[in-house]
Amino acid sequence: MPEDTIDVSITRRAAVAGGTAVAASAGLPRSSAAQGAGGAARPVGVGAGSVPAMPVSLKVNGRAAHLVLDTRVTLLDALREHLHLTGSKKGCDHGQCGACTVMVNGRRVVSCLTLAVMHEGDEVTTIEGLGTPDNLHPMQAAFVKHDGYQCGYCTPGQICSGVAVLGEIKAGIPSHVTADLLAPAQVTEAEIRERMSGNLCRCGAYSNIVEAITEVAGGQTTERQG
Ligand code: FES
Ligand code: FES
Repeated sequence: MPEDTIDVSITRRAAVAGGTAVAASAGLPRSSAAQGAGGAARPVGVGAGSVPAMPVSLKVNGRAAHLVLDTRVTLLDALREHLHLTGSKKGCDHGQCGACTVMVNGRRVVSCLTLAVMHEGDEVTTIEGLGTPDNLHPMQAAFVKHDGYQCGYCTPGQICSGVAVLGEIKAGIPSHVTADLLAPAQVTEAEIRERMSGNLCRCGAYSNIVEAITEVAGGQTTERQG
């Protein structure tokens, strides 16, 4: 078994037979698997006994993650509750705030609105996969430099979204405000604000967020005074 793959602590057969959800993933302590006393699998979620569990394999931040999940588990809950990657936040759980934004195969998704079992084989990047405290991703560093946050709750989603937004513009994907659909999309404030409109910030750090994203895009920004 490759070094970056964590052993599944309960067999799929046992998990399915028990009608249970079991988590086993990269970097997880064994205790994170959904097991009862004595290692017996226990049901997870309301009415879990009547809902078959399904195995799903993801690649999360470059590491293999093998899970057996209740089919109703969202990608967000799989990341937070089963893989213990709590950087992605649950704000509304209804697809309305963007706090849960992650990248799947390079494109951003609100992870609260998609089921984990729909992502067999997909590559998922969360805020934990972008950089480390000692080696920040350029977008993380720009958010710090430009005070692109206050409480920080929306920030992981904002940063993941910002990274993906620049990828969308680079790929020539137009937005609602793209003036010339025949020309390559430009990194303008209007484009950034439009594309980031699904990421809400209760602290109102919007102008600083735009500055941070603009800087990463190579645009000229001025640092705020004071
Ligand atoms: Fe997913 Fe708000 S928690 S959009
Ligand atoms: Fe507080 Fe955005 S920094 S919600």
